Amino acid sequence: MMFVRSFVFFLGVLATVFFGWAALVGIPDAMISEIPPPEDLPRYTDVQLFGRKIYIREGCLYCHSQQVRPEGFGSDDDRFWGRPSVPGDYVYDKPHLLGTMRTGPDLMNIGVRQPSVDWHLIHLYNPRLVSPGSIMPPYPWLFNEKPSAGPNERVLTLPDSIAPKGNVVVATEEATALTEYLLSLNRSYPVRQ
Ligand code: HEC
Repeated sequence: MMFVRSFVFFLGVLATVFFGWAALVGIPDAMISEIPPPEDLPRYTDVQLFGRKIYIREGCLYCHSQQVRPEGFGSDDDRFWGRPSVPGDYVYDKPHLLGTMRTGPDLMNIGVRQPSVDWHLIHLYNPRLVSPGSIMPPYPWLFNEKPSAGPNERVLTLPDSIAPKGNVVVATEEATALTEYLLSLNRSYPVRQ
């Protein structure tokens, strides 16, 4: 009797685990594994992929989501963050960077909203220079102070009050790649809903 009971209990556990797996992993995976990449979505370039690694390393996703909610599901529409995201928007995102927090704005379409490289570099160097009162942390380690810039280096235009005396501040490869990645965030092409 004891054996039969244990066996039934074991079967119950197995069934529970299996149904949980099917509902949360198996069925959703089958549903979205067939999604073709949208024609208008370019693949990331190597530089953009490097920038994406910096985005992950620096923890940007702890404060920024990359998912625009459907109409009637919040105020994303009023904030002009773009059309609601669809699964195809993420085909090249491995791992995806959906994020769970919105301490800062959603970045799914930041490349459209803010296309200026200089703006992004200055914002990363010190967010308050372009966004007064910002609570986003500065990322000064993505920049170097030097007496003069090299031929391909981008110099930041800083206000005199914070510009280092006699030196210039240049963006590192990490900062320019991160900016290229941010500019690539553009999911504004039309989709069939
Ligand atoms: C502690 C939370 C926090 C972290 C971490 C953070 N941000 Fe932000 N971010 C914000 C807030 C708040 C704003 C809005 C104020 C501003 O523009 O600075 C913002 C704004 C932005 C904007 C402008 C968005 C717009 O719609 O104008 C960009 C781009 C951005 N962040 C990129 C980044 C990147 C890249 C990183 C990682 C290197 C990062 N953020 C890390 C909080 C954060």
